[in-house]
Amino acid sequence: MRKFKPLIEVDDDSLKIPEVGNWSTKKWSLMGAYCDIFTNGMRNMWNQLVYIDLFAGSGFARIKNTNRIYYSSPLIALSVPIKFDKYIFCEKDPELLFALKKRVTRLFPDQNVSFVLGDANDEIEEIRNLMPAYSKGNTRLPFCFVDPFSLELRFKTIQTLGQDLMDFLILMALYMDANRNLNNYLNDNNDKIALFTGDNNWRSEFVGYENKQRDFIKYLSDKYDQNMMDLGYIKPANKHLVRIASSNLPLYYLAFYTKHNRGNDFYKKVKKTATGQTELGL
Ligand SMILES: C[S@@+](CC[C@H](N)C(=O)[O-])C[C@H]1O[C@@H](n2cnc3c(N)ncnc32)[C@H](O)[C@@H]1O
Repeated sequence: MRKFKPLIEVDDDSLKIPEVGNWSTKKWSLMGAYCDIFTNGMRNMWNQLVYIDLFAGSGFARIKNTNRIYYSSPLIALSVPIKFDKYIFCEKDPELLFALKKRVTRLFPDQNVSFVLGDANDEIEEIRNLMPAYSKGNTRLPFCFVDPFSLELRFKTIQTLGQDLMDFLILMALYMDANRNLNNYLNDNNDKIALFTGDNNWRSEFVGYENKQRDFIKYLSDKYDQNMMDLGYIKPANKHLVRIASSNLPLYYLAFYTKHNRGNDFYKKVKKTATGQTELGL
């Protein structure tokens, strides 16, 4: 039986390599498993499969305090045994995008890849326009991986892409960001959560929650699910929770959103493949 291993260790190639926490290996295992299951399951059902990475990075990442360097999300998506037909990578740091381009050209010269330099939220129409056209006889299904450091993702961005038929794997940095910065966000002058949820009136909804610190994550998670349901997506039955291995503290979760009921099936397969993760009981 074929088995794709998303954790691909590499040597330093002298291009820029960002440092990341060791929990990133769990993220890459999960996103790699989704890409593999997606192309494997969808290849015969759609003419064109498209991979979009909105917060792409440089393609390599080093685990902090180690010499271990791995492929990060864009190169993992390019490595799946059954390829996507088109890849679109957006990154706002010019140095990281430069390194990514070099690596893609060297390691995956035959793949159809477009690069977008800039803030994914601002460049979303360009990203949309880079997708290959579709028609009745030439169907298209994109898979969009969304991997921000924090809650800098605007809901409007997802809304714009969600107009098209598209599956999303979204990293919700709720524990990393939302919990630590709750007091800032409750301040009326701070618009981060309004942009993240697409709702300027979110505070009046949240005011009814008794334990603010504890319930903020549940509130945001439920709100996001509701937003996605309003776009026609199915509420995911489960989400993957990623924890810091040393302390077991929760960090973030990954949620797969699709308009088709394959979501639960994919979740179960990924859970089986990428061992060790738990799901968030929200
Ligand atoms: C958490 S890292 C993810 C990198 C990569 N996906 C991985 O697998 O490790 C987030 C990346 O998004 C970039 N970034 C931050 N804000 C961005 C934005 N608004 N638009 C596009 N890229 C952004 C950062 O420079 C960083 O490389």
